[in-house]
Amino acid sequence: MTSGEAETPGFREQMSKARQALSGHGPLVVLSGAGMSAESGVPTFRDAQTGLWERYDPTDLATPEAWRRDRDMVWAWYRWREHLISGARPNPGHLAVARAQDHRDVVVVTQNVDDLHERAGSTLVHHVHGSLFAHRCDTCGTPMDAGPPPPEPADSLTPPTCTRCDGRARPGVVWFGEMLPSAPWEAAVSAVSSAAAVLVVGTSGLVQPAASLPGVAADAGIPVVEVNPGASGLGREVSVHLRAPAGQVLPGLLAP
Ligand code: OAD
Repeated sequence: MTSGEAETPGFREQMSKARQALSGHGPLVVLSGAGMSAESGVPTFRDAQTGLWERYDPTDLATPEAWRRDRDMVWAWYRWREHLISGARPNPGHLAVARAQDHRDVVVVTQNVDDLHERAGSTLVHHVHGSLFAHRCDTCGTPMDAGPPPPEPADSLTPPTCTRCDGRARPGVVWFGEMLPSAPWEAAVSAVSSAAAVLVVGTSGLVQPAASLPGVAADAGIPVVEVNPGASGLGREVSVHLRAPAGQVLPGLLAP
C-alpha cells in the first residue's frame, strides 16, 4: 500500500468497518504470522523472492529428519537466524499491538519464532510454533541456554551437550511433522473462543492447525479482521479484509 492508497475512499471505508468490528468490549486476540515481522526485515516463509522457503528447501532444514541427517548444518542455520533476528527491531505494527494493551486486554497468538512482540512490549504472547531462542535438549527436552549466536554465518556448528544426558541443544521451534507444544496451543484455542474480536495479521493461513484458529472464532460469531497486503488461504472466516502492510495499517487500526 502506498500512502496514496490509504487515502482512497474504498480503503477508508474498509478501515472504518475494521475498526467497528474490533471495537467490542472484551479481549482482542491478535493472530500473527511471518508478515507481521516482514517490515522488521525478517523474511517470511512463502513470499515470492524474499520468502525463506524460496531460498531453502524446508525439508533440508526444518524437519526432524534434517536434524538427524545433518545436525550441525541445521544448528548453524538456526544460530544464524537467531543472530539476524537479534539485530532486527519491532516495527510500527508490533508497537501498535503492544500499545493497544493500554486500553484493553490483548492476547497475542503468534506463529512467529522471533521475539519481536515481546520486545515491542506485549505481555501475553503464546508462541504456537515455539521460539528460536528457547533451546532444549533434543533427547530429554531439558531447557538449555546455548548463549549468544556467533556474529558470522557458518556452514556447520556443533550444538552444546546436555548437562543431564548425552543429547544436544536444538532450537525450540516446531518442525514439519512435529506436534505443536500443548500449553500455547490450548491457550490459543481458549483465547480465540472467548475473544471480543480477532485480528489476523500477516499469515498465509495455510499451515495447520494454526490456520484453523480464525475459523474457531468465526464459528462462535466473533468478528475476524485480516491485515495482509496479499491473498491468503483465509476466506469465509474473515469479516473485513484490509489489504495493506501491518506496519502501515495497525497504528491507525488499533488507536483508541
Ligand atoms: P508465510 O510466509 O506463509 O506467509 C506470510 C504472509 O504474510 C503472506 O500471506 C504475505 O502476504 C503476508 N505479508 C507479507 N508482508 C506483509 C506485511 N508487511 N504485513 C502483513 N502481511 C504481510 O508465513 P506464515 O503464515 O506465518 O512454521 O507461515 C506459517 C508457518 O509456516 C510458519 O510459522 C512456519 C512455516 O512453516 C514453522 O516454522 C513451524
